Amino acid sequence: MKEKLEQIRAAVESALKNADAMEALEDIRIKYMGKKGELTAVLKGMGKLSPDERPKIGALANEIRQKLEREIDERKTAIAAAIEAKKLEDEVIDVTMPGRKNDEGKLHPLTQVMNELKEIFMGMGFSVADGPEVEYDYYNFEALNIPKNHPARDTQDTFYIADNIVLRTQTSGMQVRVMEKTKPPIRIIAPGKVYRSDTQDATHSPVFHQIEGLVVDKNITMADLKGMLEMFVKKLYGEETRVRFRPHHFPFTEPSAEMDYSCFNCGGKGCGVCKGEGWIEILGCGMVHPKVLANCGIDPEEYTGFAFGIGLERIAMGKYSINDLRLFFENDLRFLEQF
Ligand code: DAH
Repeated sequence: MKEKLEQIRAAVESALKNADAMEALEDIRIKYMGKKGELTAVLKGMGKLSPDERPKIGALANEIRQKLEREIDERKTAIAAAIEAKKLEDEVIDVTMPGRKNDEGKLHPLTQVMNELKEIFMGMGFSVADGPEVEYDYYNFEALNIPKNHPARDTQDTFYIADNIVLRTQTSGMQVRVMEKTKPPIRIIAPGKVYRSDTQDATHSPVFHQIEGLVVDKNITMADLKGMLEMFVKKLYGEETRVRFRPHHFPFTEPSAEMDYSCFNCGGKGCGVCKGEGWIEILGCGMVHPKVLANCGIDPEEYTGFAFGIGLERIAMGKYSINDLRLFFENDLRFLEQF
């Protein structure tokens, strides 16, 4: 009996040495001291011993049991501490590591310029009208006094979707859409994409942006047009900026003009930006043609109006000294990040 106990003690001690996880310790405890454990079996068999053996063996068995329990407890505590220490080590934060940079999105340069122009016009009492890019021939051409076979159609190489449906070549069609629905006084801008079947190069793109403007009321004159557009340019490029109007022709305005402004770079002396001219073209404009007013159900005897069309890309190119239009549409981050 005594030998059996010593064997158990030796077996447990060697098993404990190799146990390095909580589960292994628990297995050892169950194997020797569980209900059906080996040490438990010895203790249960004590009744069969002679009365003088019983106390000695009993004492030894108890001593072994207590010792094993204590050792298992100690080992459990040690393992728990080791697990905790490992966890802390794994979770350690090195506060000297460099931070991770979050790249912030930005507005596209064209959107930024568009927003700036909208702000200026809204500040002058204009509201913003929105319309379709896939447009009826009627709005894009016909109602704007550009009938079929009119030479002006050749200057705007058109993407046709169907016989009478186009990708709008200009935002001017919005004049008609607005006038059909609204009674004067009218004061709107209509910004958006337009399409022309141009081969792309540094100054041409099959898609670009325009902002259309329209003012219709009683007694609107060319003087209103000139005053308003001059004020717009001064807000955009600064108070010292001057403007000039050159006669031009558009089918939907009469008279028509193109407006130039004194070069923002050289102030009019002539430089690389304005190609030595001192002036840069910014928009087309004119008094709304009486036929166009009539097409929209507005009596040209009672009302007059002016209209203008601004190319957005050209303004953005001037503003940021960009010499290739394609950069706006390639979405190269190295370009976009600069704005
Ligand atoms: N739609 C013209 C173009 O694309 C620009 C334009 C000129 C618009 C004169 C107008 C205007 O409203 O009055 O070239």
